[in-house]
Amino acid sequence: MNPIIAANWKMNMNINEGLSLVNNILDSSPSKKSQVIFFPPSITLNAISDRLKNTRYEVGVQNIHHEESGAFTGEISAQMIKSLDVQYAIIGHSERRQFFHETDYQINKKIHNALSANLFPILCIGETLEERESGETSKVLKKQLSSALKDVDSDVKGLIVAYEPVWAIGTGITANSNQVNEAHGFINETTSKLLENPVPILYGGSANADNAAELFQIKNVDGFLIGGASLKSESFCQIIKNIT
Ligand code: PGA
Repeated sequence: MNPIIAANWKMNMNINEGLSLVNNILDSSPSKKSQVIFFPPSITLNAISDRLKNTRYEVGVQNIHHEESGAFTGEISAQMIKSLDVQYAIIGHSERRQFFHETDYQINKKIHNALSANLFPILCIGETLEERESGETSKVLKKQLSSALKDVDSDVKGLIVAYEPVWAIGTGITANSNQVNEAHGFINETTSKLLENPVPILYGGSANADNAAELFQIKNVDGFLIGGASLKSESFCQIIKNIT
């Protein structure tokens, strides 16, 4: 399987900055082997998606609402996103769980909405530092997985999971090889029990050009979900080059 490299721009990059970033990445053409997906803010999604039409790069949305439509001012549904040329949706990012109080119930509804709109979900899971230090990492990951995937058909296709330890996101502290190996092994074992098709597992949390190659050697690491290091074409292209 080719590595999957997802660029989560979060609330960064206005339209000019976003277009200039993808133009620079297209110019430096870092690899033909990796599957690269950009997640711009939803207001620029259409323009970035247009720019990437007929290229090998794909786009996705950072979040969708958990209902299909209705009186939810300011929100965007899976169906609306699918009406653009967009294939993926990040669901359950820890910043959404933490700052917008997203619940397991809503995350499960988002997964169902994404799948019924034919969007491929990238389900984010991960433990806090407190949970890791109290030895609860596996318990937390298992609960996040089983609640997010509740009533999802066991033969679901296209689902991706991102393991993102909360304490590693945007902190410059990356999980070490043992921690990544253990968590990805556990996620692989758990998803294999729940689902029939293999689920790619991305690592996220201060992944960068210096650590990506080493982390990519670890079993069950199928790629990365990258925040900070995806905002500059040099660092992002370097990550792609280093792992392909
Ligand atoms: P980071 O963010 O690479 O800046 O740690 C990763 C993410 O939040 O997806």
